[in-house]
Amino acid sequence: MARFPQHFLWGGAIAANQAEGAWNVDGKGPSIADVVRGGIASGQHDAVIDPNHYYPSHEAVDFYHRYKEDVALFAEMGFQCFRTSIAWSRIFPRGDEQAPNEAGLAFYDRLFDELLKYGIEPVITLSHYETPLALYQEYGGWTNRALITHFTRYCETVFRRYRGKVKYWMTFNELNNMNRMPFATGAVDADASLQEIYQANHHQFVANALANKLCHEIIPEAQIGCMLSLSTVYPATCHPDDIFETQQLRRRSLFYSDVMMNGEYPAWSARLFRDNNITLAMEPDDLELIARYPSDYLGFSYYRSVVHKAGAQMQIDTGGAKGEDNPWLKKTAWGWPVDPKGLRTVCNELADRYRKPLFIVENGYGGVDEVAPDGTIDDVERIEYARQHILEMAEAIADGCDIIGYTWWGPIDIISAGTGEMKKRYGFIYVDKDNDGKGTLARSRKRSFDWYKQVIASNGEVV
Ligand code: BG6
Repeated sequence: MARFPQHFLWGGAIAANQAEGAWNVDGKGPSIADVVRGGIASGQHDAVIDPNHYYPSHEAVDFYHRYKEDVALFAEMGFQCFRTSIAWSRIFPRGDEQAPNEAGLAFYDRLFDELLKYGIEPVITLSHYETPLALYQEYGGWTNRALITHFTRYCETVFRRYRGKVKYWMTFNELNNMNRMPFATGAVDADASLQEIYQANHHQFVANALANKLCHEIIPEAQIGCMLSLSTVYPATCHPDDIFETQQLRRRSLFYSDVMMNGEYPAWSARLFRDNNITLAMEPDDLELIARYPSDYLGFSYYRSVVHKAGAQMQIDTGGAKGEDNPWLKKTAWGWPVDPKGLRTVCNELADRYRKPLFIVENGYGGVDEVAPDGTIDDVERIEYARQHILEMAEAIADGCDIIGYTWWGPIDIISAGTGEMKKRYGFIYVDKDNDGKGTLARSRKRSFDWYKQVIASNGEVV
């Protein structure tokens, strides 16, 4: 029996702010990503742009100007889909205008046309850590209900514009990171209270439902999903406290998919709100909207697993929570435990819980690449990581999970969301640029390039 269904979508995923650069070109306004010090995950940022500081997103890997060359390389690997985000502030530079910026819209027409030329389906995230800066500075980000109006205007604009081109959409990237990285995820201050964070979430849930409604009305054949970071959590021991707390920690993430996939706040969230003195302000129709317009599929990222001990203070980064050491697993150079079987566990957990399609829209290996004197890059660890995860994904499909596709995170090197570095590379395609922004930006194929090409060509049979 074949490991993967016939129409399984193989590809790669990036985000506009980590790849495009051209941060102020063709009318684009600044986004929250354009003022951060280090990675967007830190929430550290400037109020105004300091001309003497190097901001990684300002040039990134210049995908804005080099997308044709990059898409040709994706096509050479045989990509069937490509996930990226639309930079909201290219379309609405401040976020609150009534009319869109035509030059921004035209850029994504060119990009989507280029992808479709090679038969590559665009998979589009509407908001990937890049809320227009004015919506943070003047509105307080998603804590302000007005963002629902601004976001849905943006959604309606891009659904109408790209209705013949884009069939796969996602609303917010890793919405569950609101409770760990509120600046990145919701343009809310890094030290926001739980009351502010969950209020902002409520607005995002309503916006998510309205985006789903609009998407189906404007593009009947489209599918629109939510997207979460779902690296899994193991209890440190079989002590009942470890088991219970681990379940509670997992629920902090599954809360988001419970609301958006099931269309209602889970029963246990009432206690979460009560214990933390959270009272949500809602409009009369909000819960009805959330119930009527759930997500079609669950997109998620999976990089690693984490071990939780009762009472331990959780640290976080872009991969999720950072917990105790797991003696059974090796780690990447950035300390991320490599746990392929955890991916199978997560797929089964989510398939059981939601009974809707799953889309693995991020999985990847961030490591240091050495360029040999002859220019070759022998990234065997990246290949091994991908191979093992793909094999476990195949097992999950054999278990009965409905997985519609797999997009490797960062098929071309881009800047890290966690740290802003270039040194933390995920790509099958190398980009000549360093942490200080120096380099020619030239692209070259790593050893993993041909390996992934053969995986796609054989629909996952040859890994
Ligand atoms: C995910 C994000 O959390 O992890 C991406 O959606 C990010 O934007 C990816 O790049 C990997 O994290 P990092 O910190 O290694 O870039």
